[in-house]
Amino acid sequence: MSQYQEKATVARIEQFANKNFRLTLHCPQIAVSAKPGQFVMIRTATGKDPLLRRPFSIHQTSSGGGIQIYFKVVGRGTEILSQVKKDQEVSVLGPLGRGFRLGLNGPAIIVGGGLGIAPMLFLAKENCRLKRKCSDDLILLGAREKNELEHLLEDFRRLGLRLLTATDDGSLGHHGFVTEIMQSALPPGCTVYTCGPEPMMARVGKICQSQGIPCQVSVESVMACGMGACLGCSRPAKDGTYTHVCLNGPVYDAEELQWTI
Ligand SMILES: Cc1cc2nc3c(=O)[nH]c(=O)nc-3n(C[C@H](O)[C@H](O)[C@H](O)COP(=O)(O)OP(=O)(O)OC[C@H]3O[C@@H](n4cnc5c(N)ncnc54)[C@H](O)[C@@H]3O)c2cc1C
Ligand code: FES
Repeated sequence: MSQYQEKATVARIEQFANKNFRLTLHCPQIAVSAKPGQFVMIRTATGKDPLLRRPFSIHQTSSGGGIQIYFKVVGRGTEILSQVKKDQEVSVLGPLGRGFRLGLNGPAIIVGGGLGIAPMLFLAKENCRLKRKCSDDLILLGAREKNELEHLLEDFRRLGLRLLTATDDGSLGHHGFVTEIMQSALPPGCTVYTCGPEPMMARVGKICQSQGIPCQVSVESVMACGMGACLGCSRPAKDGTYTHVCLNGPVYDAEELQWTI
């Protein structure tokens, strides 16, 4: 798998509610080779603070050589990234990691929660492009409240797939967890793809396991290098060994991992 370090130009920055941002970066080599579920490491500062790159899922790519990331400001790196200006250059390394393995037979059920919705747009688009017929596929998106979800919906709706939403406070769609609407929505022969908070993914994995349905999860880990050099991203696997999320993930079969929740 080819990886590139590009000086990406900021093409667009969008700000949404609750410190959520979407950044469009022109980095044609990464855009053309990226697969859904892969991520990039971005140098957020021009100086040494923070020194390390920060990992972000690829939200979507465009044929014109663009990639998008969708992120929340949680600390110094994301704060700096939220303040970049159009045409500024940002160093981007990628695409990294192993993405989703798209099964082209049977319905795809795409379950995203919170910031875990970020990689699901790219996945849903690629799934539709490769399968051509996606009328049996379903997207389920969950968030705490409407504010965290509504700005993303238009892009998902454009795909023409069935789309259901859930919010913790009931301000949009089902009042409750996205896993509650998922349980009754799993057709025979489907594959589930999920990304979101750990408890959500653990629950999705459990539901799938109980029904014998294959489930791929995209997990996070604190990452220093993103390329297998620092071993900082290790996570317990089901068989008692450790797996390195940047190299072996971030996408796994749910059953490969140990879930502590
Ligand atoms: C493969 C991968 C894909 C990711 N994709 C996205 C994405 O699409 N959108 C997005 O908003 N974020 C994503 N993240 C998380 C993102 O990398 C962190 O939010 C970011 O590195 C925080 O940097 P910071 O300097 O702003 O915060 P820091 O100052 O480094 O940390 C602020 C707080 O966030 C916590 N934190 C930092 N990194 C992580 C992490 N990886 N997981 C859990 N908590 C963390 C820290 O413990 C601390 O409490 C992803 C992480 C990984 C590993
Ligand atoms: S982040 Fe360095 S080995 Fe995975």
